[in-house]
Amino acid sequence: MIRVATLADLDAVADLEVDNLGVDAWSPGLVEQAITDEHASLHVWVAEDDDTGEVVGHAVAAVVDVTELQRISVAGTHRRTGLASALLAEVVRTAERAGVERVVLEVREDNAGALAFYRAHGFVELARRRGYYRDGTTAIVLARDLTGTMAS
Ligand SMILES: CC(C)(COP(=O)(O)OP(=O)(O)OC[C@H]1O[C@@H](n2cnc3c(N)ncnc32)[C@H](O)[C@@H]1OP(=O)(O)O)[C@@H](O)C(=O)NCCC(=O)NCCS
Repeated sequence: MIRVATLADLDAVADLEVDNLGVDAWSPGLVEQAITDEHASLHVWVAEDDDTGEVVGHAVAAVVDVTELQRISVAGTHRRTGLASALLAEVVRTAERAGVERVVLEVREDNAGALAFYRAHGFVELARRRGYYRDGTTAIVLARDLTGTMAS
């Protein structure tokens, strides 16, 4: 099940950040700011294991003039079961409701799994940003236009 995150999810989301995003993980403080965003442009969702209720995935998106997908992750134990696709569908639904026509994101060029995931969901490369990440890795900027499409 996908639902909006609350402060009760803070520890679980902070753990997902560390486990799944490694050197790029947000601190618990940043996760808390995202969950409690006072400008209401940042949205945080979690994916629950339907059997145990455990929080096993999360996504964060800023919905402004474009929608920027800032984080998406699923626990290693629960990958390839469609949870990230369900999280992305929620991001797309929220963007469409806000009248936003494009979702953009950056991904490390060495993250083959994530690149395959985004390509499977219709994202195309817009640009490359050399040295974007702290360890010097290049970022690939991907985008998906929503106009005239259905949430997937
Ligand atoms: C990328 C990530 C979020 C995908 O999560 P997921 O829940 O496993 O994705 P889904 O099950 O919804 O995958 C949907 C489709 O995307 C593609 N896909 C997903 N992961 C893939 C992988 N590792 N290799 C190849 N294709 C992949 C497949 O087409 C898949 O469909 P299939 O399983 O029927 O073949 C997950 O691997 C992850 O958390 N990675 C670490 C964090 C990360 O890199 N996040 C992105 C940062 S930009």
